[in-house]
Amino acid sequence: MDWDELIKIISNCTKCPLAQGRTNVVVGRGNRNAPVLFVGEGPGANEDAQGLPFVGQAGRLLDLALQSTGFTKEDYYIANVVKCRPPENRNPLPEECAACLPYLRAQFKLIKPKIIVCLGSVASTNMIDKEAKITAIRGKWIERGGVLFTATYHPAALLRDPSKKIVMWRDLKSVWDKLKTIR
Ligand code: URA
Ligand code: SF4
Repeated sequence: MDWDELIKIISNCTKCPLAQGRTNVVVGRGNRNAPVLFVGEGPGANEDAQGLPFVGQAGRLLDLALQSTGFTKEDYYIANVVKCRPPENRNPLPEECAACLPYLRAQFKLIKPKIIVCLGSVASTNMIDKEAKITAIRGKWIERGGVLFTATYHPAALLRDPSKKIVMWRDLKSVWDKLKTIR
């Protein structure tokens, strides 16, 4: 499967009820050969309108945090667990995540990242550990099949609670330091 095929399949997907509410599918953005894959939850209103992930307020915060940590645009790719916008920005349901996850796995196979960073609890529970609590798992590193997994807060949580900003900055710095040691 190449990128064109994958994008075509996702664009026509009706595997779960989220298909009904979407304007655009949101596949991902960034370097398709990046060493780091960031995984969010699902598109919000701005993302649905533009067909790109993390382009609203939370996305601006994330880009700024990444820039200030030292990341360049070449270093990362960003995708979500679900490719279609959940109504009223609710969390995607487990069955919606399950229906959509094969696409994230296909993206992972094409990108071949060395590091996967889960943003928030939806990504963490789907990618790292079903029982994961974000406050407990964030900042930790887990190796699986030669890939390093970690998690930090979702940038939208930082908008609600600015005291989490410094913690996320530290987590992203630790990702940056790890990246430097492995490339
Ligand atoms: N929140 C997410 O989880 N993903 C986006 O793309 C935007 C906001
Ligand atoms: Fe298909 Fe994923 Fe959209 Fe559901 S969220 S319709 S599985 S692309």
